[in-house]
Amino acid sequence: MKRQHIVAGNWKMNKTFEEGRNIAQAIADGLPESDTIAILATPYIHLSAVSTVVQQKLNLKLAAQNCHQAKSGAFTGEISVDMLSSVGVEYVILGHSERREFFGENEELLAQKVDIALGNDLKPIYCCGEGLAIREAGNHLSHVANQITGGLFHLSPEDFSTVVVAYEPIWAIGTGVTASPEQAQEMHAFIRQLISDKYGEEISDATTILYGGSVKPANAKELFSQKDVDGGLVGGASLKADDFLAIIDSF
Ligand code: PGA
Repeated sequence: MKRQHIVAGNWKMNKTFEEGRNIAQAIADGLPESDTIAILATPYIHLSAVSTVVQQKLNLKLAAQNCHQAKSGAFTGEISVDMLSSVGVEYVILGHSERREFFGENEELLAQKVDIALGNDLKPIYCCGEGLAIREAGNHLSHVANQITGGLFHLSPEDFSTVVVAYEPIWAIGTGVTASPEQAQEMHAFIRQLISDKYGEEISDATTILYGGSVKPANAKELFSQKDVDGGLVGGASLKADDFLAIIDSF
């Protein structure tokens, strides 16, 4: 199994319907066919329209930014994995730090979301990362280890093999401060070792680990050249087609 290079754009709560369709089309038009997979993680209202756009390129895929842990039911305002699959979604971001911070998501809940996503053939992009105080106290490695263990390590080796991990230090998200390539590499190597200890070297080697936090065209090349950094989860810079394409081009 070969490790995949992935650049995922997380639009968060941005873009009207028309703006979304336009930027998705601009990305599809400018995306060269390559081994690098580009993923658009759009708000729910865009998924159906962007789904027809991503079909224009083999290496362009669609993601949701969240899903509910139940199959269906009385959960006003939520979205189910069946709904996401029905419009061609292939990936789902789970455990983004904004979901953890503003919506109280913890590992116990995330493990349920991971399970229902995998049960519906959606590939989780599972986020982890520490805040500034935790890093300054020197506890970032154990913090991330707990997030990975609690949300993912109940999975069978086969299920784990479809998970993408995204390391996003909270102090680097939307702040313009990027982790240095060395800081990213240190954490990514640590995560890969954790995975190796649990699932063995073959699965660990094949796991895609993305870096997120102020990735932009100017720093993507250096970050992606680190041995254990397999791509990026990009927020702000994914909202402009040219910037997003330039980041993809960094491989
Ligand atoms: P940013 O966001 O690129 O704007 O820092 C990254 C993310 O939160 O996924």
